[in-house]
Amino acid sequence: MKGIILAGGAGTRLHPLTKITSKQLLPVYDKPMIYYPLQTLLDAGIKEILIIVAPESAGNFLKLLGSGKEFDARFTYEIQDKPEGLAQAFILGKTFIGDDDVTMILGDNIFVGNETFLLDAITSFTSGARVFAKKVHDPERFGVVEFDSEMNAVSIEEKPENPKSDYAVTGLYIYDNSVVNRSENLAPSARGELEITDLNNIYLEEKILDVRIYDGFWLDTGTFDALLDAGVKVRDYCNEK
Ligand code: G1P
Repeated sequence: MKGIILAGGAGTRLHPLTKITSKQLLPVYDKPMIYYPLQTLLDAGIKEILIIVAPESAGNFLKLLGSGKEFDARFTYEIQDKPEGLAQAFILGKTFIGDDDVTMILGDNIFVGNETFLLDAITSFTSGARVFAKKVHDPERFGVVEFDSEMNAVSIEEKPENPKSDYAVTGLYIYDNSVVNRSENLAPSARGELEITDLNNIYLEEKILDVRIYDGFWLDTGTFDALLDAGVKVRDYCNEK
């Protein structure tokens, strides 16, 4: 299993914080944001990690994270010239992925509090795709899973105006090797991006998407409030431990 951290994007929703640096380098309590998703991959035993960054910040990521030696891992870097969608990561990462399966985590997603659950979900993975849904109070900000009465996933909609459930798809995705080919065949969405939700819906239609409910603590940091909350919650969590 290989790992990808997607830390591209312009972070425009967090201007002026992200005017001169990348969002994933902003502090969350006592660490740069990217340390948290990195730790999630490391905790799952993933040692070969591709870090995808925007060209403006590439040097800073390299300075911060280096070869991976400090983390007992091996890091590779790739530039995403323009933020053209999360699924583009698998095209940029084609050579890195090779014949392996891959777990991708978004550089602004923080998972703490249920490491064993994620470890098990990643190490037990064999084929298809696996994603994690979390109940939230603002589902319209995310990819949203629609479930039938037996809690089987029926569809995923990206940032719907009228969400069909309160379950957001979190930014941690596990795919078999067919993800490279599937991403290459994706058509860009109306906003010109290769959408991860379109990719997940393809797996769902083929009935090979496993949607698991994540009961740990998950935060995305896409807004000022979410970023502030993340710092406070991580501090409280660290102090409790
Ligand atoms: C992305 C995905 C969305 C997912 C979210 C998780 O949205 O498109 O489906 O729910 O990450 O953080 P973004 O945060 O890039 O707008």
